[in-house]
Amino acid sequence: MLGRRKAQQEAAQILEAAKAEGDRPISDEEVLRCLQLWGFKENENRGNVMPEGATFVHSDTVGLIKMSTCEKTLLTVGTKRYPEFTMLITTWLRNRMPEEIKQDFGYTSININKNYAGRLHRDGNNAGPSLIKAFGDFRGGELNYWPSDNKKLPLEEFEESQKVTLDIKSNLMLFDGNRGHYVNAFQGERYSLVFFSLRTWNKVPKEDIEEALRCGVPVPTVPQMKAMQQLLGPSGEAGYRTWPRESSSAALNPTTADATSTTPRRKRSCPEDSVNVDPGSHGNNHAEPATAFSTAKHPRREITLAEIAGAKVVVVEDED
Ligand SMILES: [Fe+2]
Repeated sequence: MLGRRKAQQEAAQILEAAKAEGDRPISDEEVLRCLQLWGFKENENRGNVMPEGATFVHSDTVGLIKMSTCEKTLLTVGTKRYPEFTMLITTWLRNRMPEEIKQDFGYTSININKNYAGRLHRDGNNAGPSLIKAFGDFRGGELNYWPSDNKKLPLEEFEESQKVTLDIKSNLMLFDGNRGHYVNAFQGERYSLVFFSLRTWNKVPKEDIEEALRCGVPVPTVPQMKAMQQLLGPSGEAGYRTWPRESSSAALNPTTADATSTTPRRKRSCPEDSVNVDPGSHGNNHAEPATAFSTAKHPRREITLAEIAGAKVVVVEDED
């Protein structure tokens, strides 16, 4: 697909320029430029988020996906074929990863959405902790989120008074994808990136973990996932975090102070959105992109043979 090739070329040039400029951070504008070039598929499989009357949405997943037909979780062809596009996005996040979650936030997948306001839903195939950010020139488009959702209440019974409405154009937001959320209507051009882990995040073949890491996708370890799931409290303000754009600079220089979240430090698409599965661990000796991620607190460990037993690498052709 031509658009994808163009996005890939642009991403490669940006990454090269950033490297030549002393590993400067990737900007929001550079991410947006590549998203604008990316050729989106008409995804008809996301019925749970589709606005009323829509038959498809522009929603793609890069990184790992769970196959609908079996228990295999594999790297998407989109990521294999266009690694720099994925790398640009993962580098952007690494550059602005808040100190508070830097050691622990891993993910298997990135959901990329274009120009639709997802209706109220809970993510079907998401282990929970997710980072979201919107890009583009638009008005509206805030994320509504129910931080106290018990994950059981029927969506029709949700009370608007229980939601929080957050500007994810200016803020990077951490939330639990398993709690109800929807996007406000908007005018203009809007893209969003959701960094999350599939429920099968601990059932990924070792080869695919390593390949994902080469694209900068930091598949979480068991302790990392546990820490992130515990960080998000079950209700209220503990159920999410937001970090304004400015705080990203703290992540760029290890000697600067912690990025400060706007919520107090407290107690501390997959295409198959309806598939349910569960949470792994991986090696320490990965290629370079990964080393920037995991460190002291919860070092990554080598995945064991038992953990990957039964998992086989299968090439999945998605329609790109
Ligand atoms: Fe969602």
